[in-house]
Amino acid sequence: MNYLAPLEHRYSVKKFNDHKVPKETLERILKAGQLTASSLGLQPYKLYILESKESLDKAAAAFYNKSQISTCSHLILITAKTTLEDDYIERYFNQITEVRNVPRESLEGFKTSIQGHRTKLGSDNIIHWSEKQAYIVLGHLIMASALEQVDTSPMEGFNVESLAELLSLDLTVERPAVTLALGYRAEDDVFSTFKKVRKPNDKLLTYL
Ligand SMILES: Cc1cc2nc3c(=O)[nH]c(=O)nc-3n(C[C@H](O)[C@H](O)[C@H](O)COP(=O)(O)O)c2cc1C
Repeated sequence: MNYLAPLEHRYSVKKFNDHKVPKETLERILKAGQLTASSLGLQPYKLYILESKESLDKAAAAFYNKSQISTCSHLILITAKTTLEDDYIERYFNQITEVRNVPRESLEGFKTSIQGHRTKLGSDNIIHWSEKQAYIVLGHLIMASALEQVDTSPMEGFNVESLAELLSLDLTVERPAVTLALGYRAEDDVFSTFKKVRKPNDKLLTYL
């Protein structure tokens, strides 16, 4: 599969046209998000899909640059977990036991290593660890969208507290990390004509 051509074609859209991303296409893109790798498999994030005009208009107030939000087909908000509670870990182990049909006792070593990781991180750093995982989801969604010929715009230019309030999110539980607007580029979006500015390989890559 030639995935470089769609990635060359991709850019961060500033203005979308009025075409909606079909439901089935959106679901495949979200599936790519679900299949993302995450540290210890814990998936310390959630995805909110804003698709009604009402919810998009509501969220727009929290963004510094509103043109993508006011024109996109959908906006995906990825929130990162602020804590890693015992019952969250417990539910994860219940799911592994069920999905893989393995005895619970065989997972004790893994559970001890998760608890050790949580202790090592310390409660203040859980959010930073969760946010890193959230950005891996973002990468998958951008890549999958490009392959689906759906245009995107990743954005972290929003006020976290305002967005949480507008969407009634509890910041003690989860924190908006990053968003991805989806849709199809408007013909008059001048950004589509800009050449890509990227570090040359001798500045980016070091072979050892
Ligand atoms: C995590 C992340 C956050 C970004 N936040 C914004 C943003 O808030 N507003 C915006 O206009 N572009 C945002 N961008 C787009 C970048 O400016 C863009 O990816 C970069 O300039 C490279 O251009 P290209 O994506 O068009 O190739 C963001 C990109 C990433 C990956």
